[in-house]
Formats: sequence, structure tokens, C-alpha cells
Amino acid sequence: MKKLYHAEAGHGMPLVLIHGFPLDHTLWHHQLGGLRDVARVIAPDLRGFGKSPEARRAVTMEQHARDVAHLLDRLGLDRAVIGGLSMGGYVALAFAELFPERLTGLILCNTRAVADADDAKKTRETVARRALEEGMTALAPILVQPLLSDQTRKAQPQLIKFMEAMIGRQDPAGVAASSRGMAVRPDRMGLLHRIKVPALVVTGNGDRLMAPAESEAMAARLPNAKLMVIPGVGHLSCLEAPEAFNQAARELLATVD
Ligand code: MLT
Repeated sequence: MKKLYHAEAGHGMPLVLIHGFPLDHTLWHHQLGGLRDVARVIAPDLRGFGKSPEARRAVTMEQHARDVAHLLDRLGLDRAVIGGLSMGGYVALAFAELFPERLTGLILCNTRAVADADDAKKTRETVARRALEEGMTALAPILVQPLLSDQTRKAQPQLIKFMEAMIGRQDPAGVAASSRGMAVRPDRMGLLHRIKVPALVVTGNGDRLMAPAESEAMAARLPNAKLMVIPGVGHLSCLEAPEAFNQAARELLATVD
């Protein structure tokens, strides 16, 4: 495997932040800038996204998690706080299962631990095909639509263009590969009670893709978790409400060994 691209800022406690679908590390620019005084913030581009090597077939969440572990190896880091938004959360949970000894803390942002229902699996295949046939520039406005809350769209309209550009520049083959990989991820609700490290579960009450109840259910099963539901925010908490997100992340980092 060729190396994953990553951006990083700061020193000290390693904090890996994994982007959602079909995005790249620039999702975390407020965290790279805003948490650098308390952590070494590492934001990779997953395989097939951003500046990382291409992906051709299906890429599972476990494969993405192994890529993150290889990135840590390459950086000489044994352990890290792992955070992920949405698909990044699926990867963070796969990492927690595969490498529990390397996990010092967990951030689950606008994500879920349950597997896809049959309908959702079919939609993954449709998204994969449309990405390959129509290209990402055509799909970007459709995929951006459910990401931001109505309040964010009004208050921060520049984020619509920012997200359309981010999605529009992704490689269709990489997008298709991860769409197919998400379809086969296992249910990880049963894993949660085994994750004893400090955890933060963040979402927005305006998330149209994943109901806050899914975050509540995860936080209730994690033995050492704090739940934060940010008012007026949609599927991209770290971008729509960076100050609230960063404050909660700081509080989590202060409790990590
Ligand atoms: C994401 O933001 O990563 C996606 O909404 C995840 C998904 O489609 O399940």
C-alpha cells in the first residue's frame, strides 16, 4: 500500500481525525488550527480520497482502519485518540475493534454503530454507479444537500460552496470503492461496552442523515462517554460549529491518559 496523505499541526497527544464520505482531510481545518495547542492533530485522507493513493475495488472500513494504523506506525506513534465523522466514525470503530491497545480515546461525530439495512445497501451501489458514470462534479450538489442544517445554510452560506468543491474534487473510483465498503460493514453496537477509554459522542439536532437518537444509543453503551447534541447543527458538527466541537474535544483530551 502506498502511503496515506495526511495534514498535521501541533505537538503532544496524538489525535487522529478521520473524514466522512465522500470528503477529505480539509473537513477538519478548524481542528487543525484550533486544537494544535493541546494535541498533535493528524488528519489523513483515506485511501481513494483527497491526495491519498487511488482505490479501485471495494475498500472496507477495516482496510481503512489498517491504513490508519500504518500511518501511526510511519509516524512512530503507538497510541492515539481516534476521532471520526460519519464514515470516519465507522473507521474509528473498526480501529477500536482491531487495535484496542492503540486507542487512548474516541470521538464519534455524527455517526452510528449499526450496520446498513438492505435498502441502504442498495443505495450504496446506486451511489457507487452514479459516481463512476456521472462524475463527482455532477453529484456534488445532490450530496451536499442533506449535510448542512437549514440554520447553517442561512448563517454560513459559504459552507455550501466549500462542501461542493470538496466533494466535486474526489476521485469517482475512490468514492465508489468506499460506498461499496460501507455496505458490508458489520454492526458494532456490541463492541461499544468494551471500549473503556474516554469517549465523546457529538452530533447536531439538525442532522438529517443520522438521528441524534443513534448518538444517544451509542453514548449509553460506551462505559466512559460524554454526549453532546449541538443545537441548530446538521451532519458536519466539526465544520458547522467548530468552537463547540473544539471545546468538547479539549475537555475529552484533558481526561485522556
Ligand atoms: C458520511 O457523511 O460519511 C456518510 O453520510 C456516511 C454514510 O453514508 O453512511
